[in-house]
Amino acid sequence: MLQEYRIQLPDSEATDQLAAVLATCLPRQLCVWLEGELGSGKTHLVRGLLRALGCRGAVRSPTYTLLETYDVDAPQTVRAGVRAPSTGARQKLEAESGLVVYHFDLYRLASPEEWAEAGFDDLPDPAVRLIEWPQRGGAATPPADLRVGLAVAGRGRSATVIACSRIGGETCQTLGSALQAQPAGSALHWVSVC
Ligand SMILES: Nc1ncnc2c1ncn2[C@@H]1O[C@H](COP(=O)(O)OP(=O)(O)OP(=O)(O)O)[C@@H](O)[C@H]1O
Ligand SMILES: [Mg+2]
Repeated sequence: MLQEYRIQLPDSEATDQLAAVLATCLPRQLCVWLEGELGSGKTHLVRGLLRALGCRGAVRSPTYTLLETYDVDAPQTVRAGVRAPSTGARQKLEAESGLVVYHFDLYRLASPEEWAEAGFDDLPDPAVRLIEWPQRGGAATPPADLRVGLAVAGRGRSATVIACSRIGGETCQTLGSALQAQPAGSALHWVSVC
């Protein structure tokens, strides 16, 4: 099973838009690896995602804390410019409000052992794990259901979304439908690779 999307993000608003679309696709349990060089937009994507999920407080980069936790109680909202999900999808979202999101940044992880020492294996589930710099955790990093890669492309960014598990594949399929439902003038230009 391999499902992959490539998406052009000409400006940071387009990253917000992708984040808002992704927010409508999230199951309660998912591990997302966020890959890309320094400054490629990983935290920006997480910020957009949490805002789209209804998180109104500050979304800090976990550069030094390694982990920030969010309990998103508010009903999920859909940003202006992003087509709202169907009634069925919305009911599913509302039934699933109360999502827990763990945002990791492992850039400053001293060694993979620090993952377990920090208690990261014992965090309550179900939860969505969004992990920047996953490779720094080595084998301690939970396996990805979805890999989201960001790369600088001219003045903007390009994103790849790859499914790596059954639940990742389902999320990717939902993402494909949500991307297809975007209005014609959307800044998100995407292709399905396979
Ligand atoms: N599509 C885009 N086009 C142009 N700039 C963007 C785009 N998306 C995000 N940015 C900008 O990229 C900059 C760096 O973003 P961010 O801090 O999220 O990077 P990062 O990948 O988390 O970096 P780090 O690895 O250091 O944590 C921010 O100023 C953000 O607004
Ligand atoms: Mg970051």
